[in-house]
Amino acid sequence: MKSIATSLLCVVLLVLLGGIPFSSNAQLSPTFYSKTCPNVSSIVTNVLTNVSKTDPRMLASLVRLHFHDCFVQGCDASVLLNNTATIAQGPSWTVPLGRRDSLTANQTLANQNLPAPFDTLDKLKSAFAAQGLNTTDLVALSGAHTFGRAHCSLFVSRLYNFSSTGSPDPTLNTTYLQQLRKICPNGGPGTNLTNFDPTTPDKFDKNYYSNLQVKNGLLQSDQELFSTSGADTITIVNKFSSDQNAFFESFKAAIIKMGNIGVLTGTKGEIRKQCNFVNSKSAELGLATMAQESSEDGIVSSI
Ligand SMILES: *[C@@H]1O[C@H](CO)[C@@H](O)[C@H](O)[C@H]1NC(C)=O
Ligand SMILES: *[C@@H]1O[C@H](CO)[C@@H](O)[C@H](O)[C@H]1NC(C)=O
Ligand SMILES: *[C@@H]1O[C@H](CO)[C@@H](O)[C@H](O)[C@H]1NC(C)=O
Ligand SMILES: *[C@@H]1O[C@H](CO)[C@@H](O)[C@H](O)[C@H]1NC(C)=O
Ligand SMILES: *[C@@H]1O[C@H](CO)[C@@H](O)[C@H](O)[C@H]1NC(C)=O
Ligand SMILES: *[C@@H]1O[C@H](CO)[C@@H](O)[C@H](O)[C@H]1NC(C)=O
Ligand SMILES: *[C@@H]1O[C@H](CO)[C@@H](O)[C@H](O)[C@H]1NC(C)=O
Ligand SMILES: *[C@@H]1O[C@H](CO)[C@@H](O)[C@H](O)[C@H]1NC(C)=O
Repeated sequence: MKSIATSLLCVVLLVLLGGIPFSSNAQLSPTFYSKTCPNVSSIVTNVLTNVSKTDPRMLASLVRLHFHDCFVQGCDASVLLNNTATIAQGPSWTVPLGRRDSLTANQTLANQNLPAPFDTLDKLKSAFAAQGLNTTDLVALSGAHTFGRAHCSLFVSRLYNFSSTGSPDPTLNTTYLQQLRKICPNGGPGTNLTNFDPTTPDKFDKNYYSNLQVKNGLLQSDQELFSTSGADTITIVNKFSSDQNAFFESFKAAIIKMGNIGVLTGTKGEIRKQCNFVNSKSAELGLATMAQESSEDGIVSSI
């Protein structure tokens, strides 16, 4: 069963890869498809704009998929074009293109590399550092939680019996706590969805950071950025909360940096015939699972 995000990503990738028999260019470049698919940017923008009208979650799901992709074994061909956030009124950036797909990424690596929503700040920092991303990148990329939804299962542990204390997470705003408890009953299946950003759910803006300042971060891994006493992330949260442009500039730098993790170019890796499967049968199962899980909120990880 392919999820919608995976299907959409296939559309995006097929657009990107269609009609490119072979390229000896081993460098990523913003103009990689200028001859083979000169209108790639406007084609993808149109698809994304249309789809986001039908399902506003899709843009956030694609950012999330990109994040999962890059942290597992380098970014595969799944490349967000420069305006995924722009459609949600966020920043745009220039994306170097030309990635090929890896043959060996697997679920074990995903479990190992992806930070979890229950992680402490130290763990978040080390998961990002392992990918060459610094603390500013961590705080900036976490700002992608300015849009999208999360399943109750990702944060219900904060609502009733946090860390076996018998009480909710003390860093959670009590008003927000009551709202979240209504959506996520104790012992429920954890499948209800709620907005990451209760103020402007589908807009890419700096409100993620102002939410953290009033203890309205949804995941533990969100609120840790502001509520870990003495942490160096607090001043960054305050900065982004007061200066949206500073957030956008840091986000752009960080997402381009993330998009350059472990890329395969030239003759390395492959161009898939079917974008959610590697071409050889043997590795098919693992990758199909990964693509599916990456595109669903609430599985493996969500930061
Ligand atoms: C590219 O887009 C322009 C206008 O946006 C259009 O005139 C042109 O026909 C398109 N080219 C191709 C190859 O689709
Ligand atoms: C997007 O929607 C517009 C208006 O409904 C339509 O004309 C256009 O063909 C669609 N584009 C794509 C790529 O789906
Ligand atoms: C996004 O990509 C399109 C096509 O490559 C380009 O025209 C546009 O300038 C880019 N925008 C940014 C901000 O890089
Ligand atoms: C996953 O990939 C890693 C690194 O390539 C490898 O060491 C490991 O054996 C693989 N695991 C599975 C289950 O394929
Ligand atoms: C909280 O969880 C701990 C450990 O799972 C358990 O022993 C305790 O009874 C729970 N407290 C409440 C109030 O449910
Ligand atoms: C959440 O799920 C429960 C069942 O687990 C349901 O009773 C409840 O109405 C749902 N709440 C919302 C806000 O969707
Ligand atoms: C809780 O959140 C509300 C806004 O939703 C805010 O007005 C209030 O100050 C917050 N409380 C704390 C302790 O941050
Ligand atoms: C962190 O990385 C960003 C680029 O994403 C860079 O601008 C910044 O200087 C780096 N910060 C430190 C402390 O190295």
